[in-house]
Amino acid sequence: MSKPARYNIDDCCVIDLSKHTRANGNLTVVENNLSAPFDTKRIYYLYDVPAGEERGGHAHKLLQQFVIAVSGSFDVIIDDGNQRRTITLNRPFKGLHIRPGIWRELNNFSSGAVCLVLASEHYDEDDYIREYDRFIEYTKEDVR
Ligand code: TYD
Repeated sequence: MSKPARYNIDDCCVIDLSKHTRANGNLTVVENNLSAPFDTKRIYYLYDVPAGEERGGHAHKLLQQFVIAVSGSFDVIIDDGNQRRTITLNRPFKGLHIRPGIWRELNNFSSGAVCLVLASEHYDEDDYIREYDRFIEYTKEDVR
């Protein structure tokens, strides 16, 4: 099996989505391989996150994700083992593309925040790296 490509946090971009503004409300569209940067196999969402709680705290070996604050706001910390950056998502028409091999933490959830995640693969616990030390080893051992 081919090894996954190596990515860094500069490869993780915020993508502008369409916004159809009407007097009776707004509408945003996400389409596979058009506005979304990959074919989506799975969708999940985080909600009712208590104030002060964190989510994430892991990396994926192969999975790509597209993260949208469809309601409220939160911060996404992305880390490639060399650099770390905090990106605030607070608009339902902007999505963050998280590449494989990037550590992420989500925190600073506002009241009522909903974090929609489009994922390129089905759920697979073996694709997770859940310890930061192990993630750092992974970034070094993987010549890719
Ligand atoms: P996890 O990905 O660790 O959540 P987060 O990154 O938001 O903190 O998943 C939390 C739990 O939910 C974990 O026990 C596995 C389960 N889960 C599924 O069963 N299927 C899924 O698609 C996802 C994303 C999680």
